[in-house]
Amino acid sequence: MTGARKRVGVLISGRGSNLQALLDASVDPQFPAEIALVISNRAGAYGLERARAAGVATTTISHKDYPDRDSFDGAIDAALRGAGCEIVCLAGFMRIFTPGFVNRWPNRILNIHPSLLPSFTGLHVQRRAIEAGATIAGCTVHIVTPDLDSGPILAQAAVPVLPDDTEDSLSARILEQEHRLYPAALAWLAEGRVRIDGNRALVNGASASGVLLSPCP
Ligand code: GAR
Repeated sequence: MTGARKRVGVLISGRGSNLQALLDASVDPQFPAEIALVISNRAGAYGLERARAAGVATTTISHKDYPDRDSFDGAIDAALRGAGCEIVCLAGFMRIFTPGFVNRWPNRILNIHPSLLPSFTGLHVQRRAIEAGATIAGCTVHIVTPDLDSGPILAQAAVPVLPDDTEDSLSARILEQEHRLYPAALAWLAEGRVRIDGNRALVNGASASGVLLSPCP
């Protein structure tokens, strides 16, 4: 890898398994990004322990300590900039940013979502995919824009929905792919290989180069 690694801030609210995937990837000195700071809006989030175990700086910024979304987002923004972050990765971060915050990080915020967007935005998406009778589910890494779960798609991975799936079993199958997909997509952004054209993200000049299909059972 030539040039400096991009400094990344990861925002979490809970378990942090996607954070772990990013931490693990960044152990490789060839990986083009390093995790500079992990921010949680919940003090007890297990992901904070994962970060500490990896020797990464952590801070808790609770939305409950701020009178409104603007001031909460301002505190997050200040922490990220204070740590010299150039890219922000949302990894199970369950708060919605104000447009003002998103616009201060143009094409620099990534999110991972456990559905094949644009299907199933919002919450409980694995359960809703089963209930809707979907036969294919998956996950998406996308650029965050002011509209929820609808920014340019960088990468997707698909998995089958099996007849006896529960919310838990499907979530686990998707999560395995999330852990493959997120480091790959972050690397593309950090290497400057992503170009945004309208609502499409082109990786190395091509669309859909981010598709990963998991093997069928
Ligand atoms: C992941 O499945 C992630 O895709 C989802 O929360 C989980 C966090 O798990 N994110 C969303 O639903 C955002 N809309 P983790 O804390 O183990 O990474």
